[in-house]
Amino acid sequence: MCDVGYDQEALGGVEGFLDELLVALVNGRVYSETHPRLRDTLEGLVRRLEQQCTSGSTSSIEVGVVDGYLVHDTRPLMSATLSAQRLIEPVARLGAGGLVFERGATFDEFVGVVSLLNARKSEQGETWTNANTLLEKSGVRHIRLLPPLSLETAAKRTTGFGDSERVETELELPLEIYQGVINLLQSVSIAVCRGKSFKLDTVRGEIERIMKRIDVDPASMLEVARYEQYDAFTFGHSVRVCFLAVIFAKSLTPDIRLQERVGLAGLLHDIGKAKVPFEIVHAPGRLTDEEKLEMQLHTVHGARTLLDVDDADPVAVATAFSHHKTMDDRGYPKTGFWAPRSPMTKIVKICDVYEALTAVRPYKPAMSPVRAYRIMLSMRNHFDLALLRRFIETNGIHPVGTEVRLNTGELAEVVRQTEDLHCPIVILTKDAEGNELDVLDRTRFDLSSDARTERWIESDQESLVDAH
Ligand SMILES: [Fe+2]
Ligand SMILES: [Fe+2]
Repeated sequence: MCDVGYDQEALGGVEGFLDELLVALVNGRVYSETHPRLRDTLEGLVRRLEQQCTSGSTSSIEVGVVDGYLVHDTRPLMSATLSAQRLIEPVARLGAGGLVFERGATFDEFVGVVSLLNARKSEQGETWTNANTLLEKSGVRHIRLLPPLSLETAAKRTTGFGDSERVETELELPLEIYQGVINLLQSVSIAVCRGKSFKLDTVRGEIERIMKRIDVDPASMLEVARYEQYDAFTFGHSVRVCFLAVIFAKSLTPDIRLQERVGLAGLLHDIGKAKVPFEIVHAPGRLTDEEKLEMQLHTVHGARTLLDVDDADPVAVATAFSHHKTMDDRGYPKTGFWAPRSPMTKIVKICDVYEALTAVRPYKPAMSPVRAYRIMLSMRNHFDLALLRRFIETNGIHPVGTEVRLNTGELAEVVRQTEDLHCPIVILTKDAEGNELDVLDRTRFDLSSDARTERWIESDQESLVDAH
């Protein structure tokens, strides 16, 4: 049995509703509406709509689609937008301005909407008005596509981007790349679930896009990945591991082909989870011994899956197989002879654990990079120590893309590491009063050499010394 699912109670509000809708769209491609997994999701949607309308004292949830973003109540929903290409694309293609879900929408009505959004282009009615007619004909009365936004409304809605969740022009491209790669992982997982193969070349194409962008601006890629508070399918983990692995590989070798292979191995290292039952992958509590064994099989499933594709890459296969094994042959799968030997596998292994420790999860806040490094350095024989030290140097105490507070009270974004782990190159983003700086006023400082500015990062108390 295989499954594509997520922890349904993890998110609340409109974002939670949209996340569940996305799960329904993905599961709607795998299962019939009578399958318990899809049934649960659709029933969850009915429940969430009712809850949202009751708590917000409204009669509907209205979600706009503006310039590729999901928007609610004039605010862009960054986290939901990142993994919602599957929802945004059909709405935009039909020329609609969004969707409205009115209180009282039933299970069958959600079935109708999921079928329409998942249908082939030719079966969607080509325009939003035709699509609404199709929905009505299939008995959907409480959900419909909204007319395109008038220029005035669009301008009004887009001003929502101008406040605290401002979306910079330069962020648009990383966002598209991020959405594209999440969309691809959804498709690959669906294929793996169904026991079908997929094209590794498509994945390579996506890695190329990521690498090009990382060459120009690694900070913006990591920054957009940070927006995702918690993603419905944990695909965000694989994407972030891929970004980290590509950035790390770039610091180790100029060989673009090797960098690409590391990125590919990072992106697909957990693909075997698509073959492990949903209840186990997303179990809220501790796993039983039997469930643990089942979960551990994701390594074997992943390696088999990646071995079966055309033009299989041995690095991706070995990484999927051995990313939970230690340097002294502990961990799983148990082989009695195998430990990760390829440097490329070792790179992904480091990025995998670092990402898991520093990511936000429904059950834990993000851990600081320094704390994560300390834990990793204390895990004897788990990693290649020379590589781990190199990773820490490359990633820094304040990794690229993170926001730091300076002694002046200003906020800045880390854009590059320097020789001094504590003193990266930063760009100012907010003044001491908390006002967002205009793009032209965003001065760049090398904190390792710019003594004349007398700026330093304030919240830097942790030390790595004890962990060595
Ligand atoms: Fe794994
Ligand atoms: Fe992983």
